Amino acid sequence: MPQLPQDFLFGVATAAYQIEGAVTEDGRGRSVWDDFCDRPGAIVDGSTGASACDSYHLYKEDVDLMAGLGIDAYRFSISWPRIQPDGFGAVNQAGLDYYDRLVDALLARGIRPAATLFHWDLPSPLEAEGGWLQRETAEAFADYARIVAERLADRVAMWTPVNEPNIVTSLGYSTGMHAPGRTLGLYALPAAHHLLLGHGLAVGALRAAGAKSVGCAQNHTVVWPTSQEESDVAAADLFDTIFNRMYAEPILHGTYPDGIAQMMPGPVEHDVKIIGAPLDFYGFNYYNPTLVGSPHAGERIGAEIAVDLPFSRHEIQGYPMTDFGWPVVPEGLLAVMRQLRERYGDRLPPLFVTENGCAYNTGPDDKGVVMDTERVTFYDGHLAAVSQAIAEGIDVRGYFAWSLMDNFEWAEGFTKRFGLVYTDFETQQRIPKLSYDWYADLIRRTKAG
Ligand code: FCB
Repeated sequence: MPQLPQDFLFGVATAAYQIEGAVTEDGRGRSVWDDFCDRPGAIVDGSTGASACDSYHLYKEDVDLMAGLGIDAYRFSISWPRIQPDGFGAVNQAGLDYYDRLVDALLARGIRPAATLFHWDLPSPLEAEGGWLQRETAEAFADYARIVAERLADRVAMWTPVNEPNIVTSLGYSTGMHAPGRTLGLYALPAAHHLLLGHGLAVGALRAAGAKSVGCAQNHTVVWPTSQEESDVAAADLFDTIFNRMYAEPILHGTYPDGIAQMMPGPVEHDVKIIGAPLDFYGFNYYNPTLVGSPHAGERIGAEIAVDLPFSRHEIQGYPMTDFGWPVVPEGLLAVMRQLRERYGDRLPPLFVTENGCAYNTGPDDKGVVMDTERVTFYDGHLAAVSQAIAEGIDVRGYFAWSLMDNFEWAEGFTKRFGLVYTDFETQQRIPKLSYDWYADLIRRTKAG
């Protein structure tokens, strides 16, 4: 079992649209994900998050499952359209009341609430005005952050404004694989800037409302070039810049990497100072490395505005694969942490792994037991990488497993199961898997010292 410090924070993570269901209840407005799921062919199994895990109603049962794990903290997200159905203006008290109850239920079981304000469910009326392509969305986001914090800042232990701005930009606005399904190719960059600005403005709003610990939930990958040829190394470097550094640097340095600022909307000198507001922790999600080489002739990106793709992505061979087809590479997690320390040195606040996990579709056997041994191996390897980072002097304070339970996996619908708990989406029965017991055991032993 991985050796971790006695005071290491263990958690699990989920996101509102992936677990809550109840999309038309208690005054919730529509989000881009409700709209995207209505598009024929957008979700592989034609499903939607309309009922998902029904955690909106079953949250107490879910908190009991967390208590059974012995976790220190629960990272969940707040649904913006539950709080402000239009994305701006009128506040829906019933939405705030729901998260109030959830936070109190967690605290009653000794679990620290870690809230994400935007895990992809942008209110539809904001998208109708251009969504994250518009600066006004970042401003509306700061107001929403203030509303939530005024209600919950006294009890939420950790805040992460935006989940994975790079994935929202690339899959949501560039390739269209996620909501809102825009296909702007490299012209999606304004979305990146406004997501980052939204982060920075929200940090200010949260602090003004008394939030105690504010960080982020970036997505990072280690980028491997396909060869040491100059053109492959340059392409990998470019990918690294627009996927990792373009999001880390403004937050940690208050600047964009060379060549990026000019591509952003308007003068950004003032904005990057807002984006670079000091954080209490730097959270990042890691799933797998990325193999990148020089561009393939004729490979284009974007349907609305198509351009030649300046790199090519390749399948990683020689590692076990999850049921998502993602390679299992724990040393990639270690590499990301080493890279963050090398690149940002003293400017890097304490690290938290805000998500890490794997899709294996193992279901109950004839005795009703879910023997997801591959998931145990995955967590064992990745937590050993965290342990190694700590041994190297990297200040990693905690780890959130993705996810508490099988849930609505975005464009993959219900076809990819990431949970420590199995969800029967017909009956809403939850069955803790082998990995649940393993994680509980690791937490127990670590606390015992
Ligand atoms: C991350 C998302 C999370 C989940 C995992 C598998 O990129 O933040 O919601 O879908 O991937």
